[in-house]
Amino acid sequence: MIGKLYIDGQWVDGSGEAWEVVCPVSEKVIQWLKLGSESDMDDAIEAASAAFPLWARTTYSERSGYLHRIAQGIEENRGVLVDLQMRNSGKPFAEAEIDVAAAVETFRYYANLISGVPDSRSVDIGVDGFSAAVVYEPIGVAGLIVPWNFPMVTTSWKVAPALAAGCTVVVKPSEFTPLAEMALASIIDKARLPAGVVNFVPGRGELVGRKLVEDPRVRKVSFTGSSGVGKEIMRQCAGTVKNVSLELGGKSPILVFDDADIDEALELVVSGIFYNAGQMCSATSRLLVHESISRQFIEKLVERCTEITVGAPSEGAQMGPLVSKAHFDRVKEMVERGSKVSGAAIVAGGKSSIRKSKGFFYEPTLIEITDPSHELWQEEIFGPVLAYMTFSSEEEAISLANDSAYGLAATVSTSSSDRASRVARQLEAGFVTVNAPQIVSPLLSWGGFKESSLGRELGVYGLSAFQEVKSMLFKV
Ligand code: NAI
Repeated sequence: MIGKLYIDGQWVDGSGEAWEVVCPVSEKVIQWLKLGSESDMDDAIEAASAAFPLWARTTYSERSGYLHRIAQGIEENRGVLVDLQMRNSGKPFAEAEIDVAAAVETFRYYANLISGVPDSRSVDIGVDGFSAAVVYEPIGVAGLIVPWNFPMVTTSWKVAPALAAGCTVVVKPSEFTPLAEMALASIIDKARLPAGVVNFVPGRGELVGRKLVEDPRVRKVSFTGSSGVGKEIMRQCAGTVKNVSLELGGKSPILVFDDADIDEALELVVSGIFYNAGQMCSATSRLLVHESISRQFIEKLVERCTEITVGAPSEGAQMGPLVSKAHFDRVKEMVERGSKVSGAAIVAGGKSSIRKSKGFFYEPTLIEITDPSHELWQEEIFGPVLAYMTFSSEEEAISLANDSAYGLAATVSTSSSDRASRVARQLEAGFVTVNAPQIVSPLLSWGGFKESSLGRELGVYGLSAFQEVKSMLFKV
C-alpha cells in the first residue's frame, strides 16, 4: 500500500500536496503520492487517542506477542524491504540488509524484554502498616518523527519500545524516504494490532510534523533529525509540557594514537565516515591523529579514499549517493564555502560529483584542519567528508575531541589497554568504541551528551522513555 497513508487501520489517500519520491541514483521519480495534510494528521491523532485506553490495558505478554509477529513479518519480507531501501536511498546491498536485520532485532529485543516480567514492583518503605509499589504505565499517544538516513531503523527504535510500553503511535516518516517506511506499516497492519494503535502519516515536517508536536492529545514526542528542528520541537513541546526525547546531530571524533594498529585504525576511520555516504548522526567525522604517525597515516588514508567505489547498488558499489538533490547541494556548498576560509585545506576529493551521468554522488573527501574553531571542524556536514587534525599528547587529543557542542559517539584506536580505558572514560560521548566499529545493539543504549540528545533510545532506557512511573502507597 505504498503511496497511501495508514490511519485507524485503513489505507487512505493523503489530502496534502502531490509529492514525487525520487531515486537518488537515477534521479527518476519512482513513486507518486499525496502527502498527508494537517487534517489527515488530526485523524491519525484522533485514532491513536481512541485506541489508547484499550491498548494501554493489554498485558506485557499480549504486546510481546504482537511485537514478535511484526519481527517475523519483517523477516519474511526481507527481500522486498532490502530492495525498497536500495531504490529509495541508493544504499549498497550490504547496508540495506543491515538496516532490515536491525529492525527485526529491535522488535524481537523489546518483545523479549517485556515477556514474562511484571509491570510493577513492590517496595518495602520500612513504615509499619503500609505497603507500596511502583508501577510503569504508558505515557499516552506518542508522536514519532523520523528522518531519511536510516528509514525503518530509527522507526523501529521508536515504534517497538512505544508499543511495548503500551503507547499508541503516530509515525511521521520523512517525505524523502517513505517507501520502506510504508512497507513497514503494511507489515504492522498484517500483525493485526487493534485499529488506531499504529498510524503512519508521511508529510511535510513544518505542517504535519508541527501539528503532531503541538497537539495536546499527544503526550510524548520522540524525534530524530537535525539539531535546528530538534530545538524548535523542544520549544513547541513546552506549550503542553510534553515528554520529549531528541536524537540530534553529531560531530564525533576518532582518536588514532601513535601505538595504534595502523591497518585496523584505517579501516575504522574509513567505515566510520563513509558508511551510508556519511549520512549518519554518529559518523566519526573528526579524525585526530598523533603527529608522529600523521604523515604516513594520511598518505594511506588518501589512497583508501580513492579506492572506494562510489555508485549504484546494482553496480556493487561500496558507497552510494546522498539522499536528495537538496542535501547534495547543501554538502557541496558547505565544503566549497568552508575550504575557502583559512584553516582548512582539501587533501582528497572535494569535487561535487564524481560521475558525469545521473545521481547525487559525492566523492569521499578528506580535509586538513589547522584551526579547531573552523566551521568544517565544528559543524555537522552529514556527507562523506572527513576533517582531520594532529595532536601531540593524550591530554590535547581529549581536549580537542571534547571541544564540540555535540557528544554522540567516539572511537579510540590504541594498543594500550590502560590508555583505552583512561581516554574512553574522559570522552564526552554516549557511545564509545575502542579498536572497534560502531556495532549498535538493542541491548546497549543509543544517544549522546550535550546537544546530541535528550534521553536515550534502545535498551531498557528506550522502554522507559515511553513510560510514566507511578508510586502507590496502601494502608494495610
Ligand atoms: P529535519 O530535521 O528537517 O527532518 C527530520 C524529520 O523532522 C523529518 O521527518 C521532517 O519532515 C520533520 N520535520 C521537519 N521540520 C519539522 C517541524 N518543524 N516540526 C516537526 N517535524 C519536522 O532533517 P532533514 O531536512 O531531513 O535533514 C537536514 C539536515 O539534518 C541534514 O542535512 C543533517 O545534517 C541533519 N540530519 C540529522 C539526522 C540525525 O540522525 N541526527 C538525520 C537526518 C538529518
